[in-house]
Amino acid sequence: MLQLQAVTKTFGANTAVHAASFSVDRPMMIGIIGSSGAGKSTLLRMMNCLTPASSGEILVNGRDITKLRGAEKRDWQSHCAMIFQQFNLVPRLDVVSNVLHGTLNRRSTLATMFNLYPEDDIIRAIDILDRLGIAEHAPKRAEALSGGQQQRVAIARALMQDPTIILADEPIASLDPMNAQLVMQALRDIHEQDGRMVIANLHTLDTARRYCDRVIGMRQGRIVFDGTPAQLTTGVARDIYGADASFSEATTSTQIETLSARPETVAAQ
Ligand SMILES: Nc1ncnc2c1ncn2[C@@H]1O[C@H](COP(=O)(O)OP(=O)(O)O)[C@@H](O)[C@H]1O
Ligand SMILES: [Mg+2]
Repeated sequence: MLQLQAVTKTFGANTAVHAASFSVDRPMMIGIIGSSGAGKSTLLRMMNCLTPASSGEILVNGRDITKLRGAEKRDWQSHCAMIFQQFNLVPRLDVVSNVLHGTLNRRSTLATMFNLYPEDDIIRAIDILDRLGIAEHAPKRAEALSGGQQQRVAIARALMQDPTIILADEPIASLDPMNAQLVMQALRDIHEQDGRMVIANLHTLDTARRYCDRVIGMRQGRIVFDGTPAQLTTGVARDIYGADASFSEATTSTQIETLSARPETVAAQ
C-alpha cells in the first residue's frame, strides 16, 4: 500500500534524505529512529507533501503522491494526518474547536470564517476526545491543558480527518515519561483498533521497541536498518546512532519503563 523508491531530498549541497526505499504492504506501526539531523522529519514531510522530494517516488496504492498538485495534493494530505512535537494547536481556542479544525479541508471558507460546524461533527469530535480520555476538557482553551493532554487533542484532530496514515514527528519529545506513555499507547490503540498505519519518528530506542511492529533506522540521510524490534540489537543501534564504544542505551532512552533517572545520560540525540 505504501512504497518509497529511492526518495531523495537535497537542500543545496546537503542531502537530507538519500535514496530512501522501503515498502509497507499492510497497516503497521512503524518507528523511524536515528540521531538528530538523520533525515527523519524530512522523510515524513515528503510523505505528507509538506516538502517536495528532489527525486524518487512515493507510491500509495500505485499512485505517486510526489506528483500531486492542488486539490489532489490536499486530498492526499487529508488522508495522511500529521502530528508534531509541539502539538500545533491554536492555544486560545477551545479544545473541541481545535479538534474540529481537522475537518477544515472539507468545509467551505465561509463556514470556517464563522466557526460554523455541523452538529454531527461536534458530536464526533467529542466522541473522539472521549476515546482519548480527555472529553471533560472539551470546552477549555487548549493552552490550559498539560502537554500530554494537548498532544492527545492533536491526535483527536488528526482522527477527525479519518486518515489512512498518521505521521507523527517526535510526538513525545516534549513530554514527561508518563505522558509519553499515554500518547504512545493512544497511537498504538488507534493502529490496532482502527487498522490505521502509524509512522512515528522517535529518537529513542526503547519507545520504538516497545510500541512498533517495525523499526527503520536512519543515519546521515540513509536507511541503515529496517527490521523488527527483536532484530534491533545493541550492535545495530550503535550503527544507527553512529556512536563509538561508549555508546549506551541509556543515552537514547526516554526512560519510559524505568522512571528513575539514569546516571550516564550523555546526549547522543
Ligand atoms: N528546510 C531546510 N533547509 C535546509 N536544510 C534542511 C531543512 N530541513 C532539514 N534540513 C537539513 O536536513 C538534514 C536532515 O534534517 P531533519 O530531517 O530535520 O533530521 P531529523 O528530523 O532526523 O533530525 C539536516 O542536515 C538538516 O539541517
Ligand atoms: Mg526531526
